[in-house]
Amino acid sequence: MEYAENILGTIGNTPLVKLNKLVEDLPCLVLAKYETFNPGNSVKDRMALTMIEDAEADGRLKPGGTIIEGTSGNTGMGLALAAIVKGYKCIFVISDKQSKEKMDILRAVGADVVVCPTDVEPTDPRSYYSVSKRLGQETPNSWYVNQYDNPSNTKAHYESTGPEIWKQTDGKVTHFVVGVGTGGTVSGVGKYLKEQNPNVKVWGVDTYGSVFKKYHETGIFDEKEIYPYVTEGIGEDILPENVDFSIIDGFTKVTDKDAAVYTQLLAREEGMFLGNSAGAAIKGVLQLKEHFKKDDVVVVLFHDHGSRYVGKMFNNEWMKKMGYLD
Ligand SMILES: Cc1ncc(COP(=O)(O)O)c(C=O)c1O
Repeated sequence: MEYAENILGTIGNTPLVKLNKLVEDLPCLVLAKYETFNPGNSVKDRMALTMIEDAEADGRLKPGGTIIEGTSGNTGMGLALAAIVKGYKCIFVISDKQSKEKMDILRAVGADVVVCPTDVEPTDPRSYYSVSKRLGQETPNSWYVNQYDNPSNTKAHYESTGPEIWKQTDGKVTHFVVGVGTGGTVSGVGKYLKEQNPNVKVWGVDTYGSVFKKYHETGIFDEKEIYPYVTEGIGEDILPENVDFSIIDGFTKVTDKDAAVYTQLLAREEGMFLGNSAGAAIKGVLQLKEHFKKDDVVVVLFHDHGSRYVGKMFNNEWMKKMGYLD
């Protein structure tokens, strides 16, 4: 018989899938690392489990403890699945711009969800960074995960996602393109791939309203770059420790409209029903066309599943209201 001991045993070893119609104009092979095959339907299951195991190992997380995190949903799902199997409680702090589905899904897997306003400074006591830190200090026997600065986040991708991509492409990968939020995915995968072949190019996909691209290009943290945006999962108004800027060759920014439209196109043209950051990522790949040659093998990572966006990018009323559909 072949079975996993529990649901956590099904994390990782996701497929690599060729993109066809949407990349017709590119000269190279474009492969999607398709992370919705993880049990929580996102790449975040990987780092959630590694963060928990590392915290257990060094005593930060103790038996019966409460896991506290500021999460836009996917990390929360990964943490909640591991918490169920391992017997922990979860409190998740989420910003009010996140889709209602994401909040409901976290509650469905037993978490307490605290909703905070999006449009306040990170240092404001109401921000979701501040509230999650405060809950971490106030709740007995709790552990504040901090996916932004927790090195186990990058480590998970260095140990699993990166080696999988290298093996699945038989070492032929030439470019890795991925949306950047906490930075764990780009830094862990990028570091592993560059260690195997220093010529691999690593591109981050950023949003308008985020500080990453300008910081990478100039070293300046420009507050004028920060304004509210719609795209979910990528871009930041802080510099997380998990973003290793030295691993990243460049950033390309994708507009909210393009990210939303390409989220729909992935579903319609490729049968890939994915989240909003996947739309941004594939548009980012298309924007980088001039960097690709005939024999290149471009891997783009798709973080999460379309079901979390049915009220937004897959709702044409919402798309029209936002001015994203003609
Ligand atoms: C949907 C989605 N896309 C992209 C990202 C960015 O990934 P990372 O945090 O590893 O940079 C996240 C994580 O925050 C996410 O939830």
